[in-house]
Amino acid sequence: MALTQPIPTLTGLGSLPATSHPLVQYRSLHPTFGADAFADFTTITQELVDEIKMGLAKYGVLVFRKTGLSDAKHVEMSHLFGDLDDIAPFVKGLGQENRLSSDFLFDVGNVNPDGTVMQPGGMRDLLLRCNNHFHADSAFNPRRAGISLLLAHELPPAGFGGDTEFADTRSAYKGLSEEQKEEINDWVVCNSQLNCRRNANIDDNGKLNPLLDTDEFDPMKHRFGKHKLVQTHEPSGRKNLYIAAHAHHVEGLPIEESQQKLNELLSHAGNPEYTLRVEWRDPGDLVIWDNTCTLHRSIPGTFAGKYKRDLRRTTVHDTSTQAWGLNGEGATWRSGLD
Ligand SMILES: [Fe+2]
Repeated sequence: MALTQPIPTLTGLGSLPATSHPLVQYRSLHPTFGADAFADFTTITQELVDEIKMGLAKYGVLVFRKTGLSDAKHVEMSHLFGDLDDIAPFVKGLGQENRLSSDFLFDVGNVNPDGTVMQPGGMRDLLLRCNNHFHADSAFNPRRAGISLLLAHELPPAGFGGDTEFADTRSAYKGLSEEQKEEINDWVVCNSQLNCRRNANIDDNGKLNPLLDTDEFDPMKHRFGKHKLVQTHEPSGRKNLYIAAHAHHVEGLPIEESQQKLNELLSHAGNPEYTLRVEWRDPGDLVIWDNTCTLHRSIPGTFAGKYKRDLRRTTVHDTSTQAWGLNGEGATWRSGLD
């Protein structure tokens, strides 16, 4: 689909560099971030990927419809974005089975290795519930994720839910009071995937699901991915609030007190004025986002246990100067496998 309209300028965002023959066109979805994007994926080139990256620097989230991409093309294009994270350590470390054709594809849908629909209440369902809370991919690992590319393969019928919601953390930072900005400016956050997984399985009475009430799922018994809370998002030069449901505590502050403050910040970032909901419509729909200036979460729906929601993600390692946080460049451990 070709659009001839100029790239819109959004509130608080700069304009994209003008190119004589743009390979990507945009239509904004929200006053401060997010755009429908239009490109031809028949031939995937570095030039196309570089242009998408420019769009991401501005919009943070790009929605491409009916791309026609296969698993192989998805992975091929992702390699042009940078070094990719892979699931091999988890397959090896946890004995998980990879039903997909590549270890660069993260299986974030609800399809079991045997092809059946995952049923609610099983361990894999409990662990994936973390994805229903606002997070940035791999904030818990020593090297965090930069860009994620999520491709739809099979979707529930319309009306059964399963959207993905995004939050604009650059605008969320901007929306803090000057006192808040000063208080949090030097905070280092200790992130754990286990923290998110446990919090996603606490019932209305505050009781943790016994299946996760073990040392294996105790964040304090494993390593934390440490990252600064306030950072400059280097592709845009704007300040960003790097908060996620993985955030367990602030280094050097009492745990309970800092958890309360981190929860307040996460709740602030999820304020409706900073969020955008994306509906998955067709197989081939592709959403690309920058984890270092946005958050995302999946929205539960009545499809659960009935229909497949088969979404596959590639994850590009961050290449900014903040990529390794305070974890030591080159660290090879992975959250939950240490
Ligand atoms: Fe995610």
